[in-house]
Amino acid sequence: MNVSQLAARYGIPKKVINTLRDSGYDALYPPQVEAFKSGVLGGKNLILAIPTAAGKTLVAEVCMLRSILKNNGTCLYVVPLRALASEKYEDFRKKYAPLGVSVGIATGEYDLPGNKLARYQILIATSEKVDSLLRMRARWLGESLSVAVLDEIHYIQDPSRGPTLEIVAARLRQVNPELQLLALSATISNGEELAAWLDADLISSDWRPVPLLEGIYSENKLFYSDFTTRVLAGKKSNPIEPLVIDTIDDRGQILVFVNSRRSTRTVAHSLAPAVQRRLSPGDKESLQVLARAVEGVLSEPTQLCRDLAHVVRSGVAFHHAGLHREQRKLIENAFRSNSVKVICATPTLAAGVNLPARRVVVRDWHRYQSGRGSQPIPIFEYKQFAGRAGRPGYDTTGEAILVAKKQGDRERLFEHYITGAAEPLRSQLGHGGALASHVLASIASGYAVSKKDILHFLSLTFFSVQEDVAFLSLKIDEILDFLLREELIFCRDYISSGYSLDESAELHPTAFGSTISRLYLDPLSGLTIKNGLLKLGRRPPTEIELLHLICCCPDMALLNVNKADYTALKERVLDGEMRLLVDPPAFEDEERRSLYIAAAQTAHMLLHWINERTEDAVCERFGIGPGDIRRHIETADWLLYSTGRIASLCDADEALPAMDELRQRVKYGIKRELLELVSLKGIGRARARNLFNSGFRSLEKIRKASTKKLSAVPAIGPRIAQSIKKQL
Ligand SMILES: Nc1ncnc2c1ncn2[C@@H]1O[C@H](COP(=O)(O)OP(=O)(O)OP(=O)(O)O)[C@@H](O)[C@H]1O
Ligand SMILES: [Mg+2]
Repeated sequence: MNVSQLAARYGIPKKVINTLRDSGYDALYPPQVEAFKSGVLGGKNLILAIPTAAGKTLVAEVCMLRSILKNNGTCLYVVPLRALASEKYEDFRKKYAPLGVSVGIATGEYDLPGNKLARYQILIATSEKVDSLLRMRARWLGESLSVAVLDEIHYIQDPSRGPTLEIVAARLRQVNPELQLLALSATISNGEELAAWLDADLISSDWRPVPLLEGIYSENKLFYSDFTTRVLAGKKSNPIEPLVIDTIDDRGQILVFVNSRRSTRTVAHSLAPAVQRRLSPGDKESLQVLARAVEGVLSEPTQLCRDLAHVVRSGVAFHHAGLHREQRKLIENAFRSNSVKVICATPTLAAGVNLPARRVVVRDWHRYQSGRGSQPIPIFEYKQFAGRAGRPGYDTTGEAILVAKKQGDRERLFEHYITGAAEPLRSQLGHGGALASHVLASIASGYAVSKKDILHFLSLTFFSVQEDVAFLSLKIDEILDFLLREELIFCRDYISSGYSLDESAELHPTAFGSTISRLYLDPLSGLTIKNGLLKLGRRPPTEIELLHLICCCPDMALLNVNKADYTALKERVLDGEMRLLVDPPAFEDEERRSLYIAAAQTAHMLLHWINERTEDAVCERFGIGPGDIRRHIETADWLLYSTGRIASLCDADEALPAMDELRQRVKYGIKRELLELVSLKGIGRARARNLFNSGFRSLEKIRKASTKKLSAVPAIGPRIAQSIKKQL
C-alpha cells in the first residue's frame, strides 16, 4: 500500500497525502499497513511494538491528522525526554503548519499557562508536563482531547520517569473515556500485557526498513550474527579505532556508546588524529565553522567548550548531559549533515532520535549503579543503542557492534544481547517515593475523595495488571497516614478515631497539600521547605541557608562529592561549625549523612555561581559541565519560587524579598549589585559586570550616558548600546 491509498481507504484528506509525499513518503512499510488495517484510523487503541526506525511515528501522525482535520480533534504527543520533544516539535511543525495545523510544545522550558495550550491541535509534551496539567485540571484534556500518543512507552519501567507516565495514561483514560491511545516502542516483549492494560490492539513485528546486522568485535575480528566474520586492520591498543576507520573509509558515520562522560572525551580524543586525516577540504571548512559555534555558545567558554571545539575540528564529537543544550543540538545537526563523522556518547543520545549512523559501537555494556557496583546494561537498552544504526533515508544497511574485552565474553554477549529478547516491561509504581506524590495529587486535584477512589484509580494502572492491588492497599494506608500526619490532607474521622481509616472516609487537601501538588513538588520537598522556614522564624534567611534548604529537597539533583570536599564539608556542616535550616541527620544514618553533604556541595556550587565565579571555574571546581549548571539553575529557580509560595502560606512573609532576590541572582549568576542591570534585554552576567566596572552602576547612569560611551564598554559595542538606549 502507498500513502495515496490512505485517501480512498480511510478518508485521509488529500492535502495530508500531498504533504506526506512531499516529505518523501511513498510506499508504506508493512507494519504501518498492518496498523492501518487494524482499525487504528477508526479510533481503536493500539500498541505498536515494532523495531527501531520501522516508522512508528508516521502511524501516529496519520491518526492525529485524521482526527484534527476530519473530526476537529485535539491531540497530545507524549515523550519521555525534552530533547525528543523538540525534535518532534520541529519536525511536525515544519510538515504540518502549512496544512493549517497548529503545533505546540510544553516541556517546562518554553511553556505557556495550561489553558493557552488548549489552542494547539497537536501538543508535544513530556509526561511530567502532562501530569502537571492534569493536576491543574486542564479541562480540555477531558473534553476535547481526541488522540494521545505515548512515544517510547518502554520508559514505563524507568524508576524515575515510569510511574508518572503510567499515572498520566491511567488518568487521561479516566477523565476522557473516549480518548484514543497509541503507545509506541521498539522494545516491548510483553505487548499482550500492555494491550490488556490499555484495551488496545497489538501490532508487533520484527520487520525493519533497513537491515541491521549485529555482531561482536573481539581482537580486531568481527563476528556477525549471520555467521560471517571480518578482520579489520589497525591498532589493538585502541579497539575502537579500526571500527571507526573502517566505517569512515566506507563513507559511513559511526556512534560509539560508552558509560561515562569522561570516556566520551577520552575516546573522542583518541580517535581525532585518524579521523582528521580522512576529512575532505569541504569537511574541514564546515567543521571550523561548527567549532566556532560550539565554543561560542557561552559568552565565557569553559574548558569543556574548548575541548569540544578542538575535537570537532577533526570531525569527532563527544555528547553527554554536561554539554549545553545548544551544543548538543549543533553536534546532532552536524552529524546529520555528515560533517561530524563520529560521536562518542553516553546513553542519553539513544532515545528515539534520528541520526544517520551506519555503525553503532557499544563499547561499554556495564554501568556503575550506586549501591550495586558495575552491572551489565539491560537488553532493551542495548537494542535501543543498536537501533540508532541504519536509519531510513541515510543508509541501506546498519551495523551494531558490541565490543568484547575478554576472550570468554564473545559468546556470552552474543547469546545475551544479540539473540536475547528485551526484558518484559514492569511497572515501577510500587517502588520509590513517587506514589505518595501521586496520591496527594489525586486528593488535591479532587480526583479522589476517599481511599476507595484512590484504589479504584490505581486499578486503572499498569501496576494492577502485573501486581496484586491488595499489596498496594497496605502501601496506600501508609501513604495516607503520612499525608494526614504531615497535614497535607485532612480527614475528620481520622482526627476523631486516630487509627485505621475507613475506605469511604472523606479526604480533603489542606491549603499546604494543594500548594505542594500544584507546584509539582515531591511532598518531602514541601515538608523540608516548610520545616526549614519554621526553624528560620521571623528573621531573613542568608544565601547559604536558602540554597542549602532547597538542595536538601529530593527534587534537587545532587552533585558528586570527592574525598577532599567530603572531609572538608563534613567538618563544616556535620560537625556543627555551620548552622543551617535543616539539621544534620543522626550519626548512625550514613546514607542520609552523605546526602546531606552532597546537598551542601550542591549549595556551594550555586553559591560560587551567584558570586560570579566564571563558568569555567565553577565547572572545573565541581567537575561538571555547562549543561549541569543550567539544569541546577532551572531546578533552583523552581524550588526558590516554591519556597516563596510556601513562605506566604506559613506567614513567613519577611523572608519573601530575600527569596525573590536570590532567585534572580541564581537565574543570572550575579552578585546583588548587578540586579538592576540584568533587567535590560541582552544583558547577562558578563556584560552587566563590564558595565558595572566601567562605572555604569545603575539604569539611571546608563540613561544619562551617550551611545558612544556605552559602545566602548567591553562586549557591548554599538549594536547592543543602541538596544540598551532604546529600552531606556
Ligand atoms: N513509509 C515510509 N517510507 C519512507 N520513510 C519512512 C516511512 N516511514 C517512516 N519513514 C522514515 O523512517 C525514519 C524512522 O522512522 P521513525 O522515527 O518513526 O522510527 P521509529 O519507529 O519511531 O523508531 P524509534 O524506535 O527508534 O523511535 C524516519 O526518518 C521516517 O521519516
Ligand atoms: Mg520513535
